[in-house]
Amino acid sequence: MQRFEQKLGQLEAQNRLRSLNLPCGIDLTSNDYLGLAEHPALREAAIQFLQQGGDIGAGGSRLLRGHTDPHAALEEYAATYFAAPKALYFATGFQANTALFQALPHRHDVIVFDEFVHASAREGIQNSAAKHVKVQHNDLNAFEDALLKARQKNPQHIWIAVESVYSMDGDIAPLEELYALAEKFDATLIIDEAHGTGVMGPHGKGVSEDLVMKHGYERIITLHTCGKALGVAGGLVCASADMVDYLINTARGFIYSTAPLPLQAHLVKTALEICASEAGAERRRVLEKLCQKAQQFFGGPGTHIVPIVIGDDAACADIAQKLQSDGYDIRAIRPPTVPEGGSRLRLSLSASLSDDVLSGFFEDFKKHQQKRAA
Ligand SMILES: Cc1ncc(COP(=O)(O)O)c(C=O)c1O
Repeated sequence: MQRFEQKLGQLEAQNRLRSLNLPCGIDLTSNDYLGLAEHPALREAAIQFLQQGGDIGAGGSRLLRGHTDPHAALEEYAATYFAAPKALYFATGFQANTALFQALPHRHDVIVFDEFVHASAREGIQNSAAKHVKVQHNDLNAFEDALLKARQKNPQHIWIAVESVYSMDGDIAPLEELYALAEKFDATLIIDEAHGTGVMGPHGKGVSEDLVMKHGYERIITLHTCGKALGVAGGLVCASADMVDYLINTARGFIYSTAPLPLQAHLVKTALEICASEAGAERRRVLEKLCQKAQQFFGGPGTHIVPIVIGDDAACADIAQKLQSDGYDIRAIRPPTVPEGGSRLRLSLSASLSDDVLSGFFEDFKKHQQKRAA
């Protein structure tokens, strides 16, 4: 049909046509922040699991025979690790987010969400029957205003949706202050820890680690995706027992979908065990040093996600291509993933990256920038 061709042509003209490219060059792009995706312990765990007759596919949804020992073991371990009453495992973080927002907020509720929450949360919010209000990124006054207005409309419940570490800017949400607002307005705070899990917090449990230790999960829900620092795949929702049981009974993405591979569940549990161990702590220390170094080079919030904002789409694509020719796998991130005029290189740091590679990348980047400016 013509409209597809037209749209693709339009995207190409705007320098926004996307295509699938195999990984090539030094990884400065993936979300494998701890370098666990290729960790020998995970490989060994996969081999042993299969050699001992572990199942690959689940064969059905969780409520229909697809619930297996590895799923149960993972959820029990995750609940303990994240100090939550209960945890529920989904096949992907995207599925968990959409299921969560579609199921929990009801028609007479309001969702107040940060403008930069991930597309999966946006999708869930869009599909929810609740009213929703978008708030300026990380702006506590804007959150308070929106919550005040929402409360005045007498909703049944208010939900606040944020990320802990924002995926395209690497900045951190003021979780303590947001929690105080949640208390003040009797709301539930939903924290997407996709980019915090494994990396942030004293024991790698996320930016919310101390917050949940202090306040419990009565008015907090956390989402821990398992395909980023944990190196596997899936999403774990941690919440009160009632909330998790409610999801099991009503979340469409959970009920009407084949359970994630038992093998996958087993590997996520192994990855959490690594995070909890001294080996995990050592990886976090290595990553922390790289974060400091990258901040000296590029500024920014000093986390493992370093936004190098170029602005113009074409210039961003051009510099990404030059750096790829230099041997780095770094990609241009353009609208609609980021706001208009905010095209950027998203430098993603990993504990498996060496200091020298980071310095070399900085020099190469500088060289291209200087040529562009000349
Ligand atoms: C903040 C955030 N939440 C959720 C997701 C979805 O997680 P998954 O990749 O496991 O589907 C992502 C993925 O990029 C993300 O960045």
